[in-house]
Amino acid sequence: MGVFFILYFLYRLDLGKICTLRQIMSIHKTIPMIDLPRVHSTYKEELDESIGFVVNSGTYIGGSVVEEFQASLTDYLGTPTFGVGNGTDALQIALMALGIGPGDEVIVPAFTYASSAEVIGLLGATAVWCDVHTSSFNLDAESVKLALSENTKAIIAVHLYGQLADLEALDQVAGSIPIVEDTAQAFGAKFTQGKYKGKYAGTVGAFGTLSFFPTKPLGAMGDGGAIISSNSVLHDSALNISRHGQSKKYIHEEIGVNSRLDSIQAAILGVKFKHFLPTLERKKRLAELYHLELIEVHQLKLPAVEHYSTHVWHQFTIRVDSNHRNFLKKYLAEKGVSTMVYYPFALSDQEAYASMIERVPISNSRSLCNEVLSLPIDPSMDDADVRIICNTIKQYFAI
Ligand SMILES: Cc1ncc(COP(=O)(O)O)c(C=O)c1O
Repeated sequence: MGVFFILYFLYRLDLGKICTLRQIMSIHKTIPMIDLPRVHSTYKEELDESIGFVVNSGTYIGGSVVEEFQASLTDYLGTPTFGVGNGTDALQIALMALGIGPGDEVIVPAFTYASSAEVIGLLGATAVWCDVHTSSFNLDAESVKLALSENTKAIIAVHLYGQLADLEALDQVAGSIPIVEDTAQAFGAKFTQGKYKGKYAGTVGAFGTLSFFPTKPLGAMGDGGAIISSNSVLHDSALNISRHGQSKKYIHEEIGVNSRLDSIQAAILGVKFKHFLPTLERKKRLAELYHLELIEVHQLKLPAVEHYSTHVWHQFTIRVDSNHRNFLKKYLAEKGVSTMVYYPFALSDQEAYASMIERVPISNSRSLCNEVLSLPIDPSMDDADVRIICNTIKQYFAI
């Protein structure tokens, strides 16, 4: 109670002109990476109604809700899209439809989430690690060029943290080798220049794959994913594989898997999709604010936006000198600010992937693991939250 009166007194003393009572009080609050119940609170009734519709319908697998959501994705992306169980399944099914198997090599960045490489191993193929640019965190086409071999059967281009990998540059080195766009982190990002101007992430390669993991740009309240392909043969093949290899009910033409977008998740996603564009706008504003507030902190490297892509700010990831990164993370945690390290180890250095191939230098991937720090970015955050985080970072560097 005493603290409240002191804060209120400070507020009355005209501090209100430079910061609100809420801001003064928020200095004492903790800031999570993302607060999903708060994100959902603005349209909770719509969510309840939509979930209730599925509960009362008795159709818990497939049905109109899944079909409507798939149709709205297809419409938005301008490319046929269907739902699957999660983003990892989406990658696996895409590789299966491309016929990837033992003896094949698939190029993948060493700096990404495990799913992108795991599925290669699951199919008995071999991942060949490539390096990323330190500025964009995305695949370096020059590195890909050096890693190609006669066994290369696919390239997985991950659009990390919310912006597009340079697909035009990758196309040039890939030739006829299919590119799978792992779009788990970049749903809604768009090319703004070049050959693919106006195209969305996931719609350019042989396949695009989406994850609806709850914290993803478009997140469900459980698992979900989708597969995008403008190639009707590949699309149909992937669809059949995801339905036990069936082209028709009880007609199994190949070995498939069981991977479906759950009806309740589709109902949730349908509501969240209606509110998606404002969340992108809000995150853009928060990212701009981070840039403004942190520009003077010379000890940091702020995330660059590529000239050819929009950024959906799935993560706001700064680079901090490796001597400071863990200390800064700890300092922020002590002050109530959550941060995350995506990712602390290059996949090439993980025991599970010891049999994969390191043919080209991946030094950028390894150094990024010691430098990256992702700060909270959640569409329900206040501008004041960003200021608190930035001030705490400045305090750490005594600025
Ligand atoms: C880059 C990337 N690819 C794939 C996935 C896998 O998605 P899911 O968790 O839906 O299987 C993720 C999820 O974290 C991801 O970040």
